[in-house]
Amino acid sequence: MTVRLAPSILAADFARLGEQVATVEQAGADLIHVDVMDGHFVPNITMGPLVVKALKRVTKLPLDVHLMISDPDRYVEAFVSAGASCVTVHAETSPHLHRTLTRIRELGAKAGVAINPSTPVSAIAEVTAYLDQVLVMSVNPGFGGQSYIPESGAKISRVRALLNAAGSHADIEVDGGVDHTNAAALVAAGATILVAGVAIFGAPDPAAATRALRQAATSGK
Ligand code: DX5
Ligand code: ZN
Repeated sequence: MTVRLAPSILAADFARLGEQVATVEQAGADLIHVDVMDGHFVPNITMGPLVVKALKRVTKLPLDVHLMISDPDRYVEAFVSAGASCVTVHAETSPHLHRTLTRIRELGAKAGVAINPSTPVSAIAEVTAYLDQVLVMSVNPGFGGQSYIPESGAKISRVRALLNAAGSHADIEVDGGVDHTNAAALVAAGATILVAGVAIFGAPDPAAATRALRQAATSGK
């Protein structure tokens, strides 16, 4: 599978968000990753559907919305209406994952499930037919710029084995502390979407950083 890059705007300069997104789009980014935090499920507050709607007007790239919020069912429709191409909910927040994922697809978006570092891979075992992507958190969610948790590579391999056994071709997205030093190993483990915040928008030249991450991600192929 080809690898896709999803720059996370969490690390962008919000005062010039449109410009920053255009920069990474021109440099070959495949998706724009939007981190939604509610100050409840995670200890930080970020953005909501209004930002997704504003981004939709300035980029052709699919908007990959990562909901780090309690009770995501209440907001799924608002994010899809605002322009989300994919909505990912956390397994830890969603007691009725089957219903939530089905709803996201009915609304016309791709459906994703995220799992925290301490959540076992088995959390997705019964819903593989209902998801388009699995987001493996490689840091504890809530903040950008944290250090990559090294066990995440092996966890990605276990997710890929589980998906293969179920006959699923869902994407595996890895999120947190991804950079040019670990990208190739994550792809080798089975990741097909790399999220990167600080590694791209924290770099002096985000366009060059996007290209460098692409180069690193494909270097093992
Ligand atoms: C963390 C977010 C990530 C974050 C990644 O809770 O889900 O998407 O933006 O940022 P970096 O790449 O800086 O670790
Ligand atoms: Zn994220």
